[in-house]
Amino acid sequence: MMLVDPNLLFLLVGLAGPTFAATQPNLTVKVRTGTFVGNLNDTYPDVRQFKYIPYAKPPVGPLRWMPPQRLDDSSEVIDSTTFGPSCSQYVTAVPSAWALNITGNLIVNYGESLLAGQVAQNSAEDCLTLAIWTPATASAASKLPVIHFLTGGGDVTGGVNIPTQLPAHWVHASQAHVVVTTNYRVNIFGYPNARGLNGSANFGLRDQRAAVEWVAENIAGFGGDPAQITLWGQSAGASATDMYLFAHHADPLVRASVSSSGEALGHAQNPDIATGSNFTFVAKALGCDFEDAALELECMRRVPMPRIENFVGQYQDNSTLVDSSQPAIAFTRAVDNVTVFANYTERYLQGQIAKLPKIIGTTAREASALVPYPIHDVAAGPNETLVVASTLATVCAAHNTTVLRNALGLPTFRYEWGGNFSDLTGGVAWLGAYHYSDLYMFFGSYLINPLPPADPLEASTARAMQDFLLDFVRDPTSLPGRGWPEYRAGAEGGGQIAQFGADGRAFKLVSGDSVEAACHIPGAVYNTTP
Ligand SMILES: *[C@@H]1O[C@H](CO)[C@@H](O)[C@H](O)[C@H]1NC(C)=O
Ligand SMILES: *[C@@H]1O[C@H](CO)[C@@H](O)[C@H](O)[C@H]1NC(C)=O
Ligand SMILES: *[C@@H]1O[C@H](CO)[C@@H](O)[C@H](O)[C@H]1NC(C)=O
Ligand SMILES: *[C@@H]1O[C@H](CO)[C@@H](O)[C@H](O)[C@H]1NC(C)=O
Ligand SMILES: *[C@@H]1O[C@H](CO)[C@@H](O)[C@H](O)[C@H]1NC(C)=O
Ligand SMILES: *[C@@H]1O[C@H](CO)[C@@H](O)[C@H](O)[C@H]1NC(C)=O
Ligand SMILES: *[C@@H]1O[C@H](CO)[C@@H](O)[C@H](O)[C@H]1NC(C)=O
Ligand SMILES: *[C@@H]1O[C@H](CO)[C@@H](O)[C@H](O)[C@H]1NC(C)=O
Ligand SMILES: *[C@@H]1O[C@H](CO)[C@@H](O)[C@H](O)[C@H]1NC(C)=O
Ligand SMILES: *[C@@H]1O[C@H](CO)[C@@H](O)[C@H](O)[C@H]1NC(C)=O
Ligand SMILES: *[C@@H]1O[C@H](CO)[C@@H](O)[C@H](O)[C@H]1NC(C)=O
Repeated sequence: MMLVDPNLLFLLVGLAGPTFAATQPNLTVKVRTGTFVGNLNDTYPDVRQFKYIPYAKPPVGPLRWMPPQRLDDSSEVIDSTTFGPSCSQYVTAVPSAWALNITGNLIVNYGESLLAGQVAQNSAEDCLTLAIWTPATASAASKLPVIHFLTGGGDVTGGVNIPTQLPAHWVHASQAHVVVTTNYRVNIFGYPNARGLNGSANFGLRDQRAAVEWVAENIAGFGGDPAQITLWGQSAGASATDMYLFAHHADPLVRASVSSSGEALGHAQNPDIATGSNFTFVAKALGCDFEDAALELECMRRVPMPRIENFVGQYQDNSTLVDSSQPAIAFTRAVDNVTVFANYTERYLQGQIAKLPKIIGTTAREASALVPYPIHDVAAGPNETLVVASTLATVCAAHNTTVLRNALGLPTFRYEWGGNFSDLTGGVAWLGAYHYSDLYMFFGSYLINPLPPADPLEASTARAMQDFLLDFVRDPTSLPGRGWPEYRAGAEGGGQIAQFGADGRAFKLVSGDSVEAACHIPGAVYNTTP
């Protein structure tokens, strides 16, 4: 089919030539740590993507279980057109809706079973990379606002290469912002709590800071403005984002933050750092049986990653599948008073937090996909009492956080995601607005979901959420002028919350009490299906 009159083509080429050359995407970007060669997205060719950018030295060999190390200056040319591996992790054999029905939310493992019960084949220790998406026309002069995203996964799984966390559609639609997403160490490689480390802990959280430092230093070359970075996280990434505000309160490097379903307050801390018993248990099983803590650590540094992941993962699977009475092991965040603090209420009261605006989000049925359910009768769904109790743990942590932020006068905006769209739930009726599903809206990834979007409300809701978030990233003071006021706990009705995708509406304001009265009014009932 002829799209352009051939007589006009001559004219167009003649006139448009220089303009076209000026807007040619520059796919090679040189910064302090290397020269990175990206490509254009095939579906959205007005989006430039750099899928592989190391932000710290590979934490391998003697650097296993060490804080991330700053990269040296380099002029090496690095192919950034494909993703690197996710950080070392395990694919659980325990069936769940995540592995069976809503599969686009897991890291890509290229053909490995989603119930493998083995190390994730596409994960590796050399994983400290981030990815950058920009408009194709962005250049070092663009100074676009930057949203820096930390993926979730409970500090045991996750990474950049997750189909429903790719922002090309969003960047295509805006042509006005840069998105960064980040791999960081998880599970025993991120949170070993080993005796031999003398209390040095939470390498995953330290990786995240190293990534923000890399972005602040180098994002200008990609068209971003280091003075306009917003840190955003979901789930474990959300609580990490919140903890970041305390750990780096004197030097946050970002000017705003967003926590989708997770806070510092009420986040469980691993007590095992006091004894390192879980690390020692694993070490002994893998042939590193030493009384001496330093020797134990040294020995464990020589054990191949897959043996460690397989042992830890299979032991944990056994707790569910074989023997629920065996002592549990867990490798998660622990209090070190550097990256994680013992009492966040106290830190709030002392004002030891970066004084930055923040959006806090929750989903109406946070726990529907997180509590156990009968795997042989999927239709029956989980125990609703457990769903509500576990959902309230997240919603009330958000409420309590907001009250403490209000007391410090920190601008705080709240949203509740209430969408129940069949393409996002894989048709599983009881999922509703489950933990994670708001990400399909922000990233625009509902469009690439295996099931086609069925409800026009979905597109308008996604657009509203993308636009609000982008406005906040552009100007953290802009939301009230756009109809989304700051939340004030003391206001009549308990403040105002932006509700997305519920009750047939893309966006509306609802009273705080209608969402979270159950957190502070005796007898109030929580509604998981607004
Ligand atoms: C791309 O950017 C690099 C570094 O800024 C520059 O040397 C090169 O000339 C640019 N190429 C094009 C085609 O603009
Ligand atoms: C282009 O972007 C879409 C949407 O984010 C994504 O699903 C797809 O994988 C991208 N294509 C390539 C080749 O990266
Ligand atoms: C831990 O402390 C011991 C004794 O002070 C020291 O020998 C060792 O090098 C330290 N290990 C680490 C990882 O800091
Ligand atoms: C793991 O650590 C926890 C907390 O310290 C402890 O209760 C549990 O028994 C440990 N598990 C093993 C197998 O040692
Ligand atoms: C898990 O349970 C199986 C079956 O009892 C057992 O053979 C295996 O050794 C266990 N694995 C671990 C790591 O505990
Ligand atoms: C952290 O600080 C608290 C008091 O603020 C203290 O009780 C605790 O022992 C400290 N923990 C570590 C690991 O330093
Ligand atoms: C945390 O600090 C607050 C304020 O100082 C105090 O009321 C509370 O008891 C502390 N919590 C714990 C577990 O120590
Ligand atoms: C659901 O869980 C609650 C709290 O553990 C329990 O009391 C109740 O019996 C459970 N309901 C069913 C149907 O199992
Ligand atoms: C919220 O604060 C209330 C009152 O201090 C407390 O009872 C509740 O446990 C807190 N909830 C969470 C999830 O932190
Ligand atoms: C969820 O996946 C399981 C396993 O494939 C399947 O039996 C079930 O029908 C799925 N649920 C729906 C609603 O498709
Ligand atoms: C979600 O919507 C479907 C209809 O599309 C309905 O069957 C299901 O009950 C709803 N789920 C919730 C949790 O509201």
